[in-house]
Amino acid sequence: MNTNAQKAAHVTTRRLLDMKQNGEKISVLTAYDYTMARILDRAGVDVILVGDSASNVFSGHNTTLPITIEEMIYHAKAVVRGVQAETSRAMVVIDMPFMSYQLSGEEALRNAGKIMKEHECDAVKLEGGRVIAETIKRITDVGIPVMGHLGLMPQSIYKYGSYKVRAREEREAEQLLEDARIVEESGAFAVVLEKIPTDLAAQVTGMLTIPTIGIGAGVECDGQVLVINDILGLNREFHPRFVRRYADLNTIIENAARQYVQDVRERSFPSSEESY
Ligand code: KIV
Repeated sequence: MNTNAQKAAHVTTRRLLDMKQNGEKISVLTAYDYTMARILDRAGVDVILVGDSASNVFSGHNTTLPITIEEMIYHAKAVVRGVQAETSRAMVVIDMPFMSYQLSGEEALRNAGKIMKEHECDAVKLEGGRVIAETIKRITDVGIPVMGHLGLMPQSIYKYGSYKVRAREEREAEQLLEDARIVEESGAFAVVLEKIPTDLAAQVTGMLTIPTIGIGAGVECDGQVLVINDILGLNREFHPRFVRRYADLNTIIENAARQYVQDVRERSFPSSEESY
């Protein structure tokens, strides 16, 4: 643990609201483990999302559906420990996995409580609008902050049948505007807008008091979120238009591993300086 890390003011739901009001943009990245969480907290990321994208990028599933609540809690514990080992500044939000909140308000509350009790995270994230309005209300009423998620909702991928941009048509756009209003009224402190047209995201952002966090939703959102593996270029094949790659770690790691294999084979590793 880095005991020398300077502790900073922890990002809260109130702070995010102030950031929106002051026109300060909110940065959000996903993380699934201790080491990455430490780096992201040190880098000044405002919110770390323990996304159920762990199902894809960590576990190798095709969708986010298979990940379990126990697996999410495992990732969340590691991330919270990472943030606590650094400046403790970043807010940590945990995705509630598929079928952990859809069956009933009571079960959703039990599972949200389980997530919050097992480690010191700050909030949970749920996908959906009017269908889960009562659930959002129930969870927030007992004091658990909820981040909403509208537009492309990966847990509903089998219903959509594709990962295409959502709400291009007027009817779906109107529904999304209504859902955004409902999510805010139900008590959410922020809402993710995934893969919707820039103009629509701007309209939602102007309409809501709570911050909007976009992914593939244009620059007008109050903040942006991306999957850490995507910005680091860890997956060579996956490079959608909304992802900006800040590094090509795939190549860097592969080259490093190749060099290591060669060094071992050639007996140039370990050297005498690397031995006892
Ligand atoms: O699971 C996830 O990583 C997410 C973000 C992409 C918003 O929900």
